[in-house]
Amino acid sequence: MPKVKITDTTLRDAHQSLIATRLGTEDMLEIVGEMDKVGFHSFEMWGGATFDSAIRYLNEDPWERITKLKEEAPKTPFQMLLRGQNLVGYKHYPDDIVHKFVEASFTRGIDIFRIFDALNDIRNMEVPIEAIKKVGGHAQGALSYTISPVHTIEYYIKVAEEMVGLEIDSICIKDMAGLINPMDAYNLVKSLKENFDLPVCLHSHCTSGMAPTSYFKAIEAGVDIIDTAIGPFSFGTSQPGVETMYAMLENTEHKSDLDIERIYKIANYLKKLRDKHKGLLSEASLTVNTQILHFQIPGGMMSNLVSQLKEQNAENRLDEILLEVPKVRAELGYPPLVTPLSQIVGAQATLNVLSGQRYKLIPNEVKNYVKGLYGKPAAPINKDIQKIIIGDEKVSYEKSPELKKPSYQKFKDEVKDKIEKEEDVISYALFPEIVLNFFETRKNKVPTPKVEHKEVEKAAPKEVTKQQTSQQPHTNGGVALRAPLPGAVLKIIGEIGKPVKKDSVLFIISAMKMENEIVSPASGVLQKVYVKEGDVVKTGDVLATIA
Ligand code: CO
Repeated sequence: MPKVKITDTTLRDAHQSLIATRLGTEDMLEIVGEMDKVGFHSFEMWGGATFDSAIRYLNEDPWERITKLKEEAPKTPFQMLLRGQNLVGYKHYPDDIVHKFVEASFTRGIDIFRIFDALNDIRNMEVPIEAIKKVGGHAQGALSYTISPVHTIEYYIKVAEEMVGLEIDSICIKDMAGLINPMDAYNLVKSLKENFDLPVCLHSHCTSGMAPTSYFKAIEAGVDIIDTAIGPFSFGTSQPGVETMYAMLENTEHKSDLDIERIYKIANYLKKLRDKHKGLLSEASLTVNTQILHFQIPGGMMSNLVSQLKEQNAENRLDEILLEVPKVRAELGYPPLVTPLSQIVGAQATLNVLSGQRYKLIPNEVKNYVKGLYGKPAAPINKDIQKIIIGDEKVSYEKSPELKKPSYQKFKDEVKDKIEKEEDVISYALFPEIVLNFFETRKNKVPTPKVEHKEVEKAAPKEVTKQQTSQQPHTNGGVALRAPLPGAVLKIIGEIGKPVKKDSVLFIISAMKMENEIVSPASGVLQKVYVKEGDVVKTGDVLATIA
């Protein structure tokens, strides 16, 4: 029996699941050299939210993280999580950007690319896999695992078959919500091993408490690789602890030969690191939540929901939102709750609860999903809900021809004065707004802020904002348009002095990483605008008045 290989997720999924992806490169550099000596199959250390988080919150260059860590840890292969055509972002990027991204990641030191599509729509994985094969990387095709009437073993084998047709090098069962039970894990691994001559990996989360047992059964069924995290960054909504799996495999033919003594030492350092960020740890992400078996919410999404609700001063609504999520999910064709669909479903469920009326506020991303821009869901979307969301607009699952058009040069021209290296163009193509700020800060050589999360959390005022309707008369005689949700004013569309129609879009507010169109409460003339682009507003703030 070949030994089961172990991938360590501490530097990516584990801190993404537990502390909102806030480990910085410096934190990692202290320990990655030691981790390199343990004998892990790979380090999952990049991709997912790490890219966005590095720029947005840590003021760090995500590309440099690969190079710096590689210098300290040259032995263990580096692995990243790639969201298909979405790369590390939340929308489909053009094909040439996909190629440039993969090439640059590989050149910097990523060896294994785990590619998934949230909807298991293989067309979204074709170009990334082609790009990975072209540079000579290892392409691991991931099945986004979820439970629904349509997600059967036959379904997964069919998806895996399509991925194998694209010449992937291994298969991963990506159970982002920790839903796979031991016998299902056993049966799925067995089927995959019987049908395909490729290594199979099981990736799960401890959210429901089943993951270690499911790993054990998967190992009995012949799984080749399991994903674990080290002590202080394991369990809760993260991966099973490597120490626990090591102990579980003692006295079996699968006994692991990792350097366990070294792991215990590494755990001591990681404990300090976790304490440093403990302001971000929430009870919801630390405890086993048996309700998850009902709600099917992944760890990352759960900690995201909690922090979003904190921002909105609505933490007390969590239970209602957890009940709303499965309803929205069923109505939207049972998408697996993985990025970006976890954000899309989560934001819609949150808005359904906080606005007091289901589908009253609908982010643009939800509309785009229903129009087919993210790919084809495994089950059809509820027709009535579709009508509410996009009316009579056409649904199309064809890949947009726009994505085939070369775009790299255009992005490069836009930022040619600000870039210091080629990868900056890719960063800009992925996250234009936040990257421009980052370039600016970098130019001015502002020292990297030491983020003290505890203080940040404390500083936020905790007063409860009352939900207000958008049609309250304002003192100057006009009808006031009030912010229906807290967020940042992304765009002002209306023009002062110009006529507006009822329900025409006047503002776009960015909240929960989604774009929300704010429409005029009445027909008339746009009298006054009280905010400017970039302003942060809270629920009930007057945005404009309509005369
Ligand atoms: Co995960």
